[in-house]
Amino acid sequence: MQSSDVRKSFLDFFAEKQHTIVPSSSLLPDSPNLLFTNAGMNQFVPIFLSQAPCPYRPPRAADTQKCIRAGGKHNDLDDVGHDTYHHTFFEMLGNWSFGDYFKQEAITWAWELLVDRWNFPPHRLFATVYRPAQTEPASFDEEAYAIWQDVFRSAGLDPQVHILFGSKKDNFWMMGDTGPCGPCSEIHVNLLPDREYRPDTGRSLVNSGSPQCIEIWNLVFIQFNATADGSFVPLPSRHVDTGMGFERVCSIIQGTKGFTQFDNLHISNYATDVFREILLAIAERAISSHSQNQSVLQSIASTECILDFERILPQPLTVAFRVIADHLRTLAFAIADGIWPSNEGRGYVLRRILRRAVKFGRVELGIQGPFLFEIVPALVKKFAPTFPELADQESTIVSVIKAEEESFGKTVERGLSLFREERQRLQSAQIQQLSGEFIFRLYDTYGFPYDLTELLAREAHLTMDREGFDRAMEEQRQRSLAAHKRVVIEVNQDGDSAIVTRFIGYEAGEGKGTVLEVNPQPPFVILSETPCYAEMGGQVGDQGTLYFETETYSILDTQKGKGGAVIHLLDRAFTGPKGAEVFVRIDLKRRHRIAAHHTATHLLHWALRMVLGNRVAQRGSYVGPDRLRFDFSHGKGMTPEELSAVERLVTEKIAADDPVQTRIQSYREVKMDPTIMQFFGEKYGDIVRVVDIGGYSKELCGGTHLASTGEAGFFKIVSESAIAAGIRRIEAVCGAGVTDYAAEEWERLREELSVLARKYQVPLPIDWPEKPGEGSDPSEAWERLEKARGCLLTFREKGRELVRRESKALEEALRKEAVEIYADYHQRARVLPSGVPVVVANLSGSQHASPGLLQAVADAFKQRGWKGILVLGYRDTQKASILVSVSKDYTGQYSAGTIVQKLVPLIGGRGGGRSDLAQGGGGRVEGLEDALSCVWEFLK
Ligand code: SER
Repeated sequence: MQSSDVRKSFLDFFAEKQHTIVPSSSLLPDSPNLLFTNAGMNQFVPIFLSQAPCPYRPPRAADTQKCIRAGGKHNDLDDVGHDTYHHTFFEMLGNWSFGDYFKQEAITWAWELLVDRWNFPPHRLFATVYRPAQTEPASFDEEAYAIWQDVFRSAGLDPQVHILFGSKKDNFWMMGDTGPCGPCSEIHVNLLPDREYRPDTGRSLVNSGSPQCIEIWNLVFIQFNATADGSFVPLPSRHVDTGMGFERVCSIIQGTKGFTQFDNLHISNYATDVFREILLAIAERAISSHSQNQSVLQSIASTECILDFERILPQPLTVAFRVIADHLRTLAFAIADGIWPSNEGRGYVLRRILRRAVKFGRVELGIQGPFLFEIVPALVKKFAPTFPELADQESTIVSVIKAEEESFGKTVERGLSLFREERQRLQSAQIQQLSGEFIFRLYDTYGFPYDLTELLAREAHLTMDREGFDRAMEEQRQRSLAAHKRVVIEVNQDGDSAIVTRFIGYEAGEGKGTVLEVNPQPPFVILSETPCYAEMGGQVGDQGTLYFETETYSILDTQKGKGGAVIHLLDRAFTGPKGAEVFVRIDLKRRHRIAAHHTATHLLHWALRMVLGNRVAQRGSYVGPDRLRFDFSHGKGMTPEELSAVERLVTEKIAADDPVQTRIQSYREVKMDPTIMQFFGEKYGDIVRVVDIGGYSKELCGGTHLASTGEAGFFKIVSESAIAAGIRRIEAVCGAGVTDYAAEEWERLREELSVLARKYQVPLPIDWPEKPGEGSDPSEAWERLEKARGCLLTFREKGRELVRRESKALEEALRKEAVEIYADYHQRARVLPSGVPVVVANLSGSQHASPGLLQAVADAFKQRGWKGILVLGYRDTQKASILVSVSKDYTGQYSAGTIVQKLVPLIGGRGGGRSDLAQGGGGRVEGLEDALSCVWEFLK
C-alpha cells in the first residue's frame, strides 16, 4: 500500500463504522496552554468537556490530524534525525467516540483493522494496559485488560505474553498539564527477523526503545479533566480518543512488503513514499551545490534508490537528510496555518527548527546558500491533495522560508568570518581554547548559534570555555534586569477573590466607581467600574480625570492588571481609602480620535483585502489618538497605484457614512463564519464582540469605535514600509489626527529646509506655505503640507545644483594648483641611468592637498606631454596615499602597479593598478616620507 492508500483505508474503515470523517484542524491550537496542535484530540476538547455539543450523528469522528511535537510537553525535537521514527511534524490517524462506544469497540475495531484488513501478523502484536503503582489518578484498567485477553485468546495467542502493564508514565495520556485525559492502551508491533522471533523476546522489547518494536496506536479512554491545581476531575461522559502514527504504519507496511518479509528489514519512516519526493529534492539540491559528497549523493538521487539513502549514505549525511525532510514539513505546514518564524513563543520554536535544518544542510551536506525554500514545491505537490491549504499558501511558504534562510545566512557568514579571525589570532598566540567571552560575543551580539561554534571549534581542534560562556550569559542577564526599569504592576490578590473591574466605557464617557485597590508607587487605583478603556488589541489606554472629594487626579494611562482588574495610573498617589467612591471622566476628545483611528483601521484592513486579495492577514496594529499603524502579511511593497486605490476605497466608505454596529456573539458561531475577520494567531474567549461596518467589514474586536464611518472625516496614508520578511506596515491618520500630523510634518520639513538653506547660504524660498494650525480643516492642512513638500523637493534640487557648482570650482582650483606644481617640478626631475626622468613629490603641504590633487597633478603632467615616472604622496592625520604614473613610452621597462605594490607596505596598506597608473593608501601615515625616499632604491 502506498501512503495515500493507508490513509484512505483507515478513514474508509471508520466511515463504515458510522464515523463522520472530519478535516484536520489547524496546527494553531485553540488551547492557550499548547504551542502547537499536538494530538488529534485537541480540536475535540470542548466536546469532551461538555462545553460544546457533539455535531456528529452518531457521535463518532475520524480523521488524519497534522501534529507538531516540538517545545512543550511532547517534545521530540532533539531526537529527530538520529532515529528512524521520531518527527517534529507527523500525521495522526484517529477515531473518536463522544460519550458513545467505549473500550470494547475501540479495542476490537483496532484489532479488526490491523489484523483482518491490513494483515498485521497477530503474533507480532502486543498491547499495554494501565496498571498504576498507586491508584492515582485512576485504578487498574481491568476492563481493557479483560477485553484484550479475549482478543488475544480468540486469535490463539497467550494473553500473559501479549499484554503488558504500564504506569502513569506510559499508559495514562495527557495532552498537556491540564485538559481531558485518561488511561490508555498502546499497540506495539514487533519486527524481529522470523528466525529470531519468539513471543517472549517480542514481549521483552516492548517500550525498550528498540527500533525493532514500534508503538503504532494509542487508544485513550478519556475519563478525567486534569485541572490546574493538579486534581483529576471525572467527566460526565466517557470518550474514546485513538491516535495512530501514520508514518510509522506506512513504514511497517512498506518495509515488510505487506508483511511478506521480515528478514533483512529496513524499517524507517523516512524510507516510505511519504518522504520520497522531498528526499529526492534535497539530494538534487545538494548535488547542485557541488558538495564534497558528489558521488555518493549521485548514487541515491533517483526515484528507485532514494529510499535507500539510510543504507547508502554515511551516518552524518543520513541524519542531515532526515532532519531536513522532517523539519521542512513542520515549517511548511505551520506557515500554511499562519504560524511564522519569529522571536517568541511558537514562532521561536519554528525559527529554531529552521536553523537546525539549515545547519545540517550547510555543515553535513555542504549546501551553499538558501535551499529549504527550493524543496517546498516537491512537498506541496505530495501533500496538497490531502491538505489543500498547502497549495493555497505555497507562495507564502516559499517566501517566508526564503527570507528566514537569507537572514540566518547573513548571521552565519558574519559569525564564520569572526571565527576565522579569532582562530588565526589564537593560532599565532598558540592558544588552544576559545574564550567564553568570545563565544558569548558571537552568540549574543552576532546571533551565532552556540552549537555551531562548538562544531567549528571541534574541527579547528580548539576547546571551549563553557564556564566562561555561562558566566558571561549570567552577567548579561543581570545587566538586562538592571536596565529593565519598566514599572511592573502587580496586583495583590488575596486568595480567590479576584478583582474584576466592570468596563462601562462602550456606552458612557464618565461614571462612578468604588476604589478596590490603592497603590502608592507607581501610583494607581483599581476601581469596581470604569469608563476608561485599558490598553488592548493595539488600542492605547484612555486618559482622563479622577475626582475624589475635593481632589482631582489626572489619569495618565489605563492598563490591564491581573485577571479582570483595570489599573488607572495617576499623576500622584491617591490619598483616599480603599472603598472610597470616586468619579471618573475620560478625555473624550482624545477617545474620539482613538475611535476614529480604530474604525479607520477596520476600513483599511477591508480595503487592503479588496486591493491586494484575501491573503492579506493582520499581523498587528497600533491605534492611538495621533495615528494608526496596521501590520499585515504581504510579500512585496505596495505600488503607488495600490496605495491610492486603498486610500480611495477608505475615503469612499467614509463619505458613505456607513453605520458601525457591534454585537455580542458566541465564539463557536463566529468561528464558523468565514466573513468575520479574526486575528490570525490570537485566541478568544467563549463570548466575543463583533464589529460590523455596513455589512462588508466584520471583525472580532473589543475596541471602541465611531458610531458611523463619516465621523472619521478625512483619511490619509502617510507611509508604507517593510517591517519584517513578508510583513508590511501602513501608517495612516484620519480626522483631527490629519491636522496634527500635517503640522508636525510641516515643522520637520521646515527644519530640514533651514538646515539646507544654511548649508548653501541662501535665503529660504519665499513661497513656503503657512503652517497648518490647530483646528484647521484636515483637508486644508493636508494641502499645505503637500505644498511644503513640493517646495522642499525643489529646494533640495537647487541645493544639488549648488553642490555641483561648488565641485566645479574646486576642480578648477585643483587644476590650477596642479599646473603650478607641474611648472615647479618638471624641471627638477632626476634622470635615471636608463635615461628615464623621475619626479618624486610629497604634496601634503599643498593648498588643496587631497587624493584628488594627486590625480590632478598626474593629469597636468600628462596633458603637457611630460615623459617619465611620477611618484606623488599625500597624507593627512588618518591616511597616506601614493600615486605612481609611468608615461606610455616607458611602461615596457617600468610598471606603475609594481612600484606602488612595493611602496604601500611602508604606509601599512595595499594597492596596485595598471602599468601606466596605480594608486594605494594606508593608515601608517608616518611611513610616507620613507616610502617616497625608497623610490630611488627600486628604480636604480
Ligand atoms: N491522544 C492520544 C495521542 O496523541 C491518542 O490520540 O497519543
